[in-house]
Amino acid sequence: MNTAKVLRKAVIPAAGLGTRFLPATKAMPKEMLPVVDKPAIQYVVEEAVKVGLTDILMVTGRSKRALEDHFDRVPSLESTLEAKGDTKKLAAIQEATNLGDIHYVRQGDPKGLGHAVLRARQHVGDEPFAVLLGDDLIDPRDELLSTMIEVQAKTGGSVIALIEVEPSQISAYGCADISEIDGENYVRVNKLVEKPDAGEAPSNLAVIGRYVLHPAVFDVLEETEPGRGDEIQLTDALQTLAAGDGEGYGVYGVVFRGRRYDTGDKLSYLKAVMTLAVDSEDLGADLRAWLPGFVGSLKD
Ligand code: G1P
Repeated sequence: MNTAKVLRKAVIPAAGLGTRFLPATKAMPKEMLPVVDKPAIQYVVEEAVKVGLTDILMVTGRSKRALEDHFDRVPSLESTLEAKGDTKKLAAIQEATNLGDIHYVRQGDPKGLGHAVLRARQHVGDEPFAVLLGDDLIDPRDELLSTMIEVQAKTGGSVIALIEVEPSQISAYGCADISEIDGENYVRVNKLVEKPDAGEAPSNLAVIGRYVLHPAVFDVLEETEPGRGDEIQLTDALQTLAAGDGEGYGVYGVVFRGRRYDTGDKLSYLKAVMTLAVDSEDLGADLRAWLPGFVGSLKD
């Protein structure tokens, strides 16, 4: 019988050191880097809230005060903008403060993604929950999380999001061996490997940063030994859930074919900013008009 509860909680790990972006991230969390005109983390929070996940827990680390400040109100700035009659900017800053109910917990030791998720145990309790990683942005015009939530309710297990990548890229991701299920829009996950070498990958299906997890993952994470990079890997805990059976076991995958932007390294980040900027209401037209000339000048 399906006893799944309605999903309300999202966990957003945001304790990474952002070393790939140094020196930009020396005193500022990488999640605050602007993507066009909003910090990357705001896209992720908006994505969660849009599908009804209004109880958000951020797992943060040192120098993450800016995150809390960003989602808090700034009455003095609001009244200044109000006095000036700048309703557009007022609405823009209020947008970030009206997003759900945001809680914070510190990760303490940076012992990996699995460890960060385990830090959410007390807040999440005994109900299914979503995990959203800030390095992956899903285009707001495409559906992913809502489908994953439906699949979790239907299967009662845990659900991951997969994309097809070039075989040469698979070593940057968790990788899934899957079986199709007749007539369903999701697949069964038989096996997961964290960042396999290209020659050893069971497929070219890469895990991206959206998960809808059964709380059984917490007990498994407690027992999961450090894996790749000497970190407690969420992928390894999910492999245990995929391989075993029992209440809350079983892992399923939704293969995503929409638009995803990686903001996890400098080059992908720049591409993500450009891709979103050309579609932006404010800047898109001017940017599109400027780009062909700029690209042409590179060929000279
Ligand atoms: C994490 C996960 C990995 C997944 C990736 C998606 O890795 O461990 O399985 O494929 O996120 O972005 P990270 O990129 O944090 O090293």
